[in-house]
Amino acid sequence: MKPMKSRLLTTTVIPLAIAAGFTLVTVVAAPKAVAGHHQKGCNPCAARGCNPCGARGCNPCNPCAGAASYSSKCVVPRLASANPCAAKRGCNPCAAKRGCNPCGANPCGPCGAAPAVKLTKGETIAVYKCLQGEMKAAYSKSGNLWAKWYAHWKKFSNQPYVSATHGGRFVHNYASKKASGQYAKFEKVGKMTRGGVLAKESFSVTPQGKVSVGPLFLMEKMKTGFNKASGDWCYTLIMPNGQTVGTTNGKGSKNVKFCIDCHAAVADNQDAMFFLPAKFRAK
Ligand code: HEC
Repeated sequence: MKPMKSRLLTTTVIPLAIAAGFTLVTVVAAPKAVAGHHQKGCNPCAARGCNPCGARGCNPCNPCAGAASYSSKCVVPRLASANPCAAKRGCNPCAAKRGCNPCGANPCGPCGAAPAVKLTKGETIAVYKCLQGEMKAAYSKSGNLWAKWYAHWKKFSNQPYVSATHGGRFVHNYASKKASGQYAKFEKVGKMTRGGVLAKESFSVTPQGKVSVGPLFLMEKMKTGFNKASGDWCYTLIMPNGQTVGTTNGKGSKNVKFCIDCHAAVADNQDAMFFLPAKFRAK
């Protein structure tokens, strides 16, 4: 199991980085169009002939569509003060000046899958605490019941940790009441209980310490026969603007097929669950 996991982690980071490069071109022009863009999947740029989702289908881990803007309230003070340009608006205020490029490899948009900024544990916790209200409001807009309730479920992570496979964002994992008992067994899980739901909330931080809400990732174990390829899991991707990019067997089902493709690579005795790195498991 381990080698498969690490193989996945390394092979998926690269496409994500490429996808981030794509959005570099599109982000600047996209945000306005994105707001009114609903069930078209995650291709905010279709009309302009630029498709960040490419042939591989939408890459949710790098979803330009529905991206949140930066939090006006929450920042990482250390990064914000260390960077002389941080206070200036716009993507790269310093491009012309030597030695000062706050955006670095990360495109200006909040949707760039920023290859995680390094934060201390204290910083991740502080950002999360500050951003929690905004996250709740963002996901609730979707009207999805789990998106509204997941924050009351058992949290399985002891701090926000970086998930390379979900856009290099900081994430927390939750399991619903029905799912917790099984999820707590981790690699010995066998099968998830029918009706159990898992949630992964996310946020990102720029090198300048700016913070934004990321997508919400949901997995719900459905009844046998729901969808063989997905192992009867229903995957749902919700953007910070409340837009649902897709849900297995529902609207935008094909937009979340890539979730299945990756999660199905887990060994059969783990029922498509990857869990989280041991050191981030809540005791
Ligand atoms: C390239 C591989 C990959 C893709 C694509 C992917 N995931 Fe994951 N997912 C993982 C890994 C690895 C973990 C556990 C480690 C972590 O958090 O990074 C995980 C964990 C999760 C969890 C917590 C439950 C668990 O497995 O322990 C949820 C919920 C989740 N993913 C939902 C989604 C959804 C929804 C999508 C599609 C929108 C998606 N994932 C796409 C690899 C992937």
